[in-house]
Amino acid sequence: MPPTHLTPPKPDAVEPTEAVAPLMRGLAVLHRLTEANGTQSLSGLEKTTGLARSTVDRIAATLARMDYLRLDGRDAVLTPRLMELGNAYLAALRLPRLLDTRADDLADELDESVSLAVPDRDGIRFIHQATRRRAMSLSFRIGDLLPAERTAPGPLFATEWTLEDWARWRDRRAADPQDRSFPAVPPRERPTRDAEFEERTHQAGTRGWALDDQLIEPGLVAVSVPVRDRDGRVACVVSVVSHTSRHSAESLRETMLPRLRATVRAMERDLREAPVRPPAAPAGLAAWTGASKQELGREFVESLARGLTVITAFGEGRAELTLTEVAQATGLARATARRALITLEHLGHVTAHGRHFTLTPRVLSLGFPPLSRTTLPQIAAPHLADLAGRLHDSASLAVLAGDEVQYTARVATSRIMSVNITVGTRLPAYATSLGRVMMADLSPAGRGPFLTGRLDALTPRTVTDPEALAAVLDHVRSAGYALVDGELEEGLRSIAAPVRDRTGVVVAAVNVAMHSSRRTVERCVAEVLPELSATAGLIEADLRVAGRFTRVPVA
Ligand code: PHB
Repeated sequence: MPPTHLTPPKPDAVEPTEAVAPLMRGLAVLHRLTEANGTQSLSGLEKTTGLARSTVDRIAATLARMDYLRLDGRDAVLTPRLMELGNAYLAALRLPRLLDTRADDLADELDESVSLAVPDRDGIRFIHQATRRRAMSLSFRIGDLLPAERTAPGPLFATEWTLEDWARWRDRRAADPQDRSFPAVPPRERPTRDAEFEERTHQAGTRGWALDDQLIEPGLVAVSVPVRDRDGRVACVVSVVSHTSRHSAESLRETMLPRLRATVRAMERDLREAPVRPPAAPAGLAAWTGASKQELGREFVESLARGLTVITAFGEGRAELTLTEVAQATGLARATARRALITLEHLGHVTAHGRHFTLTPRVLSLGFPPLSRTTLPQIAAPHLADLAGRLHDSASLAVLAGDEVQYTARVATSRIMSVNITVGTRLPAYATSLGRVMMADLSPAGRGPFLTGRLDALTPRTVTDPEALAAVLDHVRSAGYALVDGELEEGLRSIAAPVRDRTGVVVAAVNVAMHSSRRTVERCVAEVLPELSATAGLIEADLRVAGRFTRVPVA
């Protein structure tokens, strides 16, 4: 098998005697799943990691217990909760929170993709993507790692490389002439001379910008400028990315550089002026730490769980932690925390400076690239399946689309409606439980069009009077759910709850629909509502983790 970036950073580095083997194996499984875009069969993992099947099973069971993956038949699937590891790094770094908005605004202004990247050894790793890319070229994800010499940011970072960094870069190029250790990029086709990159680095140093003229793939061009911190060091690099159908590398530089530079000046001002926030409280002890050995089961590998939990000790205002601070934040014994840190350092996820430890960008290789593309329907699907399985009724997720609801995820157990509902089906919002929980969250102005539009009587029970409907919405808003009984179709009863994003805004709704003969209205509220609300809560919890540094599409 070709070497990959998953192999330990320095192939010749000896494993420290105190390294925690189960943590190393667990990280290898997470890397594999990340490379496989978030899903791989357990037998596939056995092959690609070289671990025994029983070991793979125990690791998967442990990660599933931590909510970092789920088992779907024979497949292991990464879950959004795993993003809390990458989030710990991004929060500690602070750059995304401070600079994302300016990057997004620049992408809007230029109508081209804009990204933020940080150096990661002899590569570059993306920490933000404002993607405007058309179908024509690859688009990279947060957490993707690229070889420095095939990018525009690379030479800007290389202006700060030490002789040791250059030596490591040359060794890697010699050992991996086709860039197989960078799964995000197509293999390098023609050999390039080391001197080319050295020359580009020299130019980047004197000019203050750098270009990528189709170094990754034909058509893809980029121009980059460094963002410097208070001490004048390169904190990250901003790139504007386009395609040769719109710009040559030269014309991209000519048209974009002035506005890119203006954005970078504003970003540098933001970095200088950003108040140093008091350290955030540590994330709190992981849920599994409270459980007894018996509850966790024989398969649970505690040393793996402990090691991963160490990563969550870091965060905003908690970028540099001592061993004592890590132990306090995680509730682990010092000796345990120390061995986990030694292991994470050996694998390149942590660096030590004197008594302090920090996370490295490599933490983003633990699931972030595939998970950063997760949509709300994908987040909801397994939770809807659990709900439908428990209740033996259909469960759905929907968003508002004009004056209709549009189904975006659905688990059907039976067909109770005359229309066959599938993903994409639209129904009038005013007569559905899904529509009502979403309308109820709107401002009076937002509700307006729904109340002044056509309110047809779809059954004799449909509420068609605007004032009566407004009163229903007020009630829904205070109750936190909507129950619609035979107003859309006779014999159809449904109950819906809102799904809120991190800011508390209702972005979608979940419902359970059934034939009215299945349960009385009272039993529906008593039995279905608690399950439904719990499901909405689980979806919201995943959305909070996934949406912390990425924009999660609602449909
Ligand atoms: C990107 O953001 O996708 C990007 C940035 C710089 C490059 C290539 C791609 O050189």
